[in-house]
Order: sequence, then C-alpha cells, then structure tokens
Amino acid sequence: MDEKTKKLSLKRDVGLIGAVSLIAGTMIGSGIFMSPQTVLLTIGSTGASLVVWASCGVLVILASFCYAELGTVIKESGGEYIYILRTSGPVVAFMLAFSSVLFVRPAGVAGIHSALRKCPPPELVIKCVAAAAIVVLATVNCLNVRFSMSVQVFFMVAKVLALAVIIIGGVVMLFKGHTENFVDSFENTNVGINAIGIAFYQGLWSYDGWNNLNYVTEELKRPEVNLPRAVIIAISLVTGLYLLVNVSYLTVMTPKELMMSNAVAVTWGNKVLGSWGWIMSVAAALSAFGSLNGTFFSGGRVCFVAAREGHMPDILAMAHVRRLTPSPALIFTTFVSLVVLIPGDFQSIVNYFSFTAWFFYGITLSGLIYLKIKRADLPRPYKVPIVLPVIVIIAAVFLVLAPIIDSPQIEYLYVALFVFSGVIVYIPFIHYKICPSLLTKLTVFLQLFLEVAPAEKNI
Ligand code: ARG
Repeated sequence: MDEKTKKLSLKRDVGLIGAVSLIAGTMIGSGIFMSPQTVLLTIGSTGASLVVWASCGVLVILASFCYAELGTVIKESGGEYIYILRTSGPVVAFMLAFSSVLFVRPAGVAGIHSALRKCPPPELVIKCVAAAAIVVLATVNCLNVRFSMSVQVFFMVAKVLALAVIIIGGVVMLFKGHTENFVDSFENTNVGINAIGIAFYQGLWSYDGWNNLNYVTEELKRPEVNLPRAVIIAISLVTGLYLLVNVSYLTVMTPKELMMSNAVAVTWGNKVLGSWGWIMSVAAALSAFGSLNGTFFSGGRVCFVAAREGHMPDILAMAHVRRLTPSPALIFTTFVSLVVLIPGDFQSIVNYFSFTAWFFYGITLSGLIYLKIKRADLPRPYKVPIVLPVIVIIAAVFLVLAPIIDSPQIEYLYVALFVFSGVIVYIPFIHYKICPSLLTKLTVFLQLFLEVAPAEKNI
C-alpha cells in the first residue's frame, strides 16, 4: 500500500440542506402514514392522542438539543456509540454497537418494510420489492456519497409535499365545519402507565431518526454551525408537520374509522381524494424508501466507527480507495438487513425497537451530564442547560420501565438479555483479542476484492 492510500479518509460532503434532509428525511418514514391509529387505539381518545404526538415532539426536540452539544464536543462520527465509548467506556459501547448492528438498525429497516405489508399485494411480492429496494440503496450508498445525499434530499421534498397535501385537505374540511371529532376529546382516555408507555413507543417510532446527523459528524461541513442549525430546522419542521397531519386525520375520519384502518394515510386518501386515493399508498412507499436511505447512510457509519475502534472486524473500518465510501460496512449492514427481512409484525417490532433505543439514548445523555460536570473545560461551541439532559433521562427511564412494570411481557426480557449478551462476546473477542486466523486471511482477500483501505479519522 503506498503513502497516498494510507491517508484515506471520508470527505466532508454534507452541507446544510443535506444535513436537514438526513434528519427530516429519515424521521418521516412509514410511521406517520401508519402509526397514528395505534397511538389512538392505545391511548383511547383523540385529545390524548394529540397530546402524545406533541409530547413526543417536545421530548425529541429536547433530546436533540442535547445531542447537538454532544456532537460539537465529541467531533467524531458514530452517534451514541462514540459518545458512550468516550464517557461510559468500551464495554457499554460495545453492547450498543452489538445490539445496534444486529438488532436496532435492522429492526428499523424491518419496521419500515413491514409497514408496506399492510398494502394489498401479496406478502412475497412485498418482500421482494423490499429486498430490491435495500439492494438498490446499498449500491447507491457504496457508489457515491453525493449521490446518496441527492436521493435523500429528493425524497424528503417529496414526502414533505405529501404531508402538505394531507394537511391542506384537513384544513379545508375544518373550515367546512367538520369539528365534531374534537368534541369531548378526552373522553375514554386510558391513563394506565402501560398504555401511555406504548402510545409513546408508537409515536416516537415516527420521530426516530432525529439523531441521524450525529452519526456522520465527520462528513459534515462546519459541524459546529451546521449540526445545531440542521437539528433545529429539521426537527421543528417534522414536529409541526406531524401535529397538523394528525389533526387532519382526526378531522377527516371518526376515531372508530381511524382505529379500524390498516394504513391511516391510505384510508384518508380514499375519503378525501376519491379516485386519486392511491397517491397516498405511493407516497407512503416512497417515504419509507427515503427513510431507508437515511437509515443505511447512518447505520453504515456506526459499523464503520465501531470497527475503527477495534470493536468490529477491521475490514469494516475501510473505505473504497477512489469512491471514498465505507463500502464494507455498508455491504455488511445490507446483508444483516436482508436476513432480518423475516416475518415480524409492525407493532411489536416498533415496541422492541423503541425500548432498546431509549435505553441507549438514556445512557448517552448521562454521558453528557458526566461531561458537563467532569469536563467543563472542553471547548463548547454550543451549550444546553443541564436540566435538559436530566429531563430527557427521566423520560427515558419512564419509557423503558413503563411497559415492563405495568404488564411484564417476556419478550422485553429477551430483548434485554440480547443487549447484555454483548458482554459475553466482548470478553473473548475484544478484551482478549482472540482473532481466528481465518478472519485475517478473509480481511486480506476482501480488501483486494473490494478495493478498500483503512480510513483515517476526519476531525
Ligand atoms: N421514523 C421512521 C419512520 O417513521 C423510522 C426510522 C427508523 N429509525 C432510524 N433510526 N432510521 O418510519
């Protein structure tokens, strides 16, 4: 290997628009087209369901402000993984990388895909379409960072337009005087802890992706300015859109109709757009596709950064020598996602996803509190008051415990065991560095085959 290839690193290709679409374009996925009825069903009343959507937005806004500080203090890519590594140490960070690469990210992909299952075509067709979509996106992401950013921007604009259509339709109906669904809007609210917890899980799924930019800090132009800016623009945009879209759904459909619908947006389309109703199914599919692109982009980076820190096989920390994309990590992520394309129903995937995700968000933010107290000397271009992470941690603890305490389900125990089993893998392979010689040979082979070389940090 010559000197030139040794100095390989990913480029700073993502500007403000790309950054906003990496966040908003991943957040708006299948969720807002599918989960409003589950939120309503769990919480019981239209008023409470709007409160849940608004509170999810507020929680995510607070959490993302905290992440903006983290991202400007710790300038490496990798999101929660790198923050936990720098604050709580390698074992917890490995647990996160392990469950993120093998469960959380693929579950994200599977969740987006299983939403499509509610559409009319047969299961097998949908699976093939989903698999094809995954492969296409993986190819795009391996070929060129700019190109995958263009895909991200294009789809974000498309789905913002689709949501705007829903909002305008709702406003027209409201002006025509359809306010009957908002009368006595808190009647029948379920106030059980479990109901509230699950309603939040379902709502927060639609907001997930708010932390996406923190995975790619090293590829962002002027991160100290663009990270906080993109976070504020993207998340307020999405929160506003989600609230208005929900108002529109509730204006157009009675709570009963909503609860019985398979895919809210499609039922909405059939009622308001008549024979043009199919547009909403297409919009939901395109939206899921765009969100998947963002999930890949960032998911690949977690794997890449974890490998760079020695927590994943070396090959995954390499980048293509000319294209400068982390192709091995992307190919690996694709492979795992294809395997996870197994049956699983949307709601439970979402619940286990949110459970695990909020567990780690909580740990990450306790790292922020640690940094604020112990490392007050570090330069901070962007600062949040310490109460913010405290509030979000309290919410995270509630979210993780609520569904367990109130009506324990054995599945959450399995998920927790899986997360902790990371430690068992950590001890021999990472701590004692037992590396099968086959792996070394495989690395050399793959390196030549994929034309990749180790990439340096870009900070
Ligand atoms: N919020 C997206 C949706 O509504 C799902 C995002 C999946 N998570 C992620 N980190 N990419 O479909």
